[in-house]
Amino acid sequence: MEENFEKISEGNRRDFLFVATGAVATVGIATSVWPLIDSLNPSADVLSLSTVEIDLTSIEVGTRITVKWRGQPVFIDRRTPEQIAKAVADDSAELLDPQTDESRVFNPEWLIVVGICTHLGCVPLGQAEGDTRGDWGGWFCPCHGSQYDTSGRVRKGPANKNLVVPPYSLVPGEKVIIG
Ligand code: FES
Repeated sequence: MEENFEKISEGNRRDFLFVATGAVATVGIATSVWPLIDSLNPSADVLSLSTVEIDLTSIEVGTRITVKWRGQPVFIDRRTPEQIAKAVADDSAELLDPQTDESRVFNPEWLIVVGICTHLGCVPLGQAEGDTRGDWGGWFCPCHGSQYDTSGRVRKGPANKNLVVPPYSLVPGEKVIIG
């Protein structure tokens, strides 16, 4: 019995040594890899440029604002019920780049798109009070005449792609984080 106990005990010790050595090896590898992984992480100032948080509390229904994200304009449009209805009604229209309005918004009241014409990159008109918004009430690109509807979908070329929806998370009426 005593002998058996000794054997078991010795076995356990060996197991323990094995486990302990393994743990040291794992810690050693983790320690030597960490500086490399850490150096691959973007710095805090790069991270702050990659996302932008916008306060939405003062944006009234029917108002459009432009914010800057990664050096490009982003249009935030708090749409009226009429603009939403128009966009949804046109889901079944003949579209150059077919997409439903629902697939382009998280919340129908808030349309958020990159404000760059998908033809050759001009910034379309429609954000400022009194701007022409084109035949579909969205945006009009003065460079070559492309037009976008109230969902930011292209309705008249030469552009043939809708305004791009950027990645974002939204708390309707409170804030949006773009990026
Ligand atoms: Fe907008 Fe050409 S860049 S229509």
